[in-house]
Amino acid sequence: MSNLTQSPAWQALAAHRDSLASTPIRELFAQDRERVERFSREAAGVYVDYSKNLINDDTIALLAALARQAGVEERRRAMFAGERINVTEDRPVLHVALRERSGAAILVDGENVISNVLGVLAKMRRFTDAVREGAWRGHTGRAITDVVNIGIGGSDLGPRMVCEALKPYGRRALTMHFVSNVDGADMAEVLQAVDPETTLFVIASKTFTTRETLLNAHTARAWFLRSGAAEAAIAKHFVAVSTNEGAVAAFGIDPGNMFEFWDWVGGRYSLWSAIGLPIALYIGMDAFEALLAGAHAMDRHFAEAPLEQNLPVLLALIGIWHTNFFCAASHLIAPYDRYLHRLPAYLQQLDMESNGKSVTLSGERVDYATGPVIWGEPGTNGQHAFFQLLHQGSALIPADFIVCMQPHHGLDAHHEVLLANCFAQTEALMNGSHAKDAPHRSFDGNRPTNTICVDKLDPASLGAVLALYEHKVFVQGVIWNINSFDQWGVELGKRLAVTIEGEITQPDTTGAHDRSTTSLIDRFKARRNARAESAN
Ligand code: F6P
Repeated sequence: MSNLTQSPAWQALAAHRDSLASTPIRELFAQDRERVERFSREAAGVYVDYSKNLINDDTIALLAALARQAGVEERRRAMFAGERINVTEDRPVLHVALRERSGAAILVDGENVISNVLGVLAKMRRFTDAVREGAWRGHTGRAITDVVNIGIGGSDLGPRMVCEALKPYGRRALTMHFVSNVDGADMAEVLQAVDPETTLFVIASKTFTTRETLLNAHTARAWFLRSGAAEAAIAKHFVAVSTNEGAVAAFGIDPGNMFEFWDWVGGRYSLWSAIGLPIALYIGMDAFEALLAGAHAMDRHFAEAPLEQNLPVLLALIGIWHTNFFCAASHLIAPYDRYLHRLPAYLQQLDMESNGKSVTLSGERVDYATGPVIWGEPGTNGQHAFFQLLHQGSALIPADFIVCMQPHHGLDAHHEVLLANCFAQTEALMNGSHAKDAPHRSFDGNRPTNTICVDKLDPASLGAVLALYEHKVFVQGVIWNINSFDQWGVELGKRLAVTIEGEITQPDTTGAHDRSTTSLIDRFKARRNARAESAN
């Protein structure tokens, strides 16, 4: 057994689970009229009701002891101080520095990174103001009407999700497009919809080596030049966001049109950096800075509040309770807000790329579950699709319901029905219902949920919710003793794709693979060759 599962805090939680497991959550409400007050909190404008979980005061105390035993407080301090906590890549983890608004210094190798951050924010402001005000024009003198962000993973999911979430704050005269997939259909559809004279391409890649992004960027550049634009016109229509100035210059983008960020910003934590440029183009720099300020408010709460009153810590601990003590293998994100429809996809990368690990910091294989599968759909669509399984399926699936008190539209009747459904679902999941002699109509209930509320979905509240999830993932990674900040698991597939790409482009030679892979490659080539012959 590992140190973690043998530890006194873990063993105490296992015993506590055995004593509590048969108690219905609804009974805990019956026993304690103050349960909601006890198990709900608000910070940075985010209210979390976590009372509909199978927890009591002892559970929180035991989970907090586990967090202390794992060194959560010390690792939290180390992250904010800029220590190299990403040990497998030997880097600090400082997305919190991107939204540091207090003027405090954060040193990396003796350099105050905050002044660099402020410098890039100022450059983003100059550029985004110019585009939005029409001072920055395309090469034929027309104002920019369309922005195409070309990036993938963290260089796509964050900006895309935030632009959707903050649509009510967006400049409707500016149409935002996001091309991530190397599937040519993604690029082809966007190129059909935009005009080369009025389109700005943002090539977003931390490394500027990602195959998908570079192929998409080259395709966009070739399309732009085919429209009759001269090479010199590229400067008006292509900008880059990257940490790799050499590769940006080699692509043909003037480094003056490059927005810099740093290797201490992980891809999935990068929307707060210049990777957020499309967001700032769409909602304006003031609103982008309000997003940063909202995240910073949550950072302060996370850094300062005691573990038992700390929202990211509490969500992390409740997640550990379900994953490790009730065998929950997945976690549902159910935003009851249409504008948050890309949030589950964004949180999939944040959580699964961070905590999808099974080796500890010191290289031992874990003997406990780590990051769950994250999935979701906005309400109420999910209710008419997969909620059946939540209510009556054999798997326990904890869920976060995310809801905004005030809508951005005037259709109040819709909002009332939406919220009624959200509240009804968490009640039904907890209570279940017991039809005598009708097992098919009976629901066990006891399905745990958190309800996360903001008054209105605006830049500041969105920033706070996203930081809440970032820190939740961090705390879980510390307790599981894994590195939440690398992603070595994606490398092998990338390498094999390069090899197979070389073989696929040749008519005959296929290298040594297993028989399944060889036959799939050969099948593709045979079909492609047959199409080419019939076209001749
Ligand atoms: O392959 C995974 C990954 O490295 C992610 O971590 C990252 O967000 C994405 O690819 C894109 O990387 P880049 O911004 O360097 O193009």
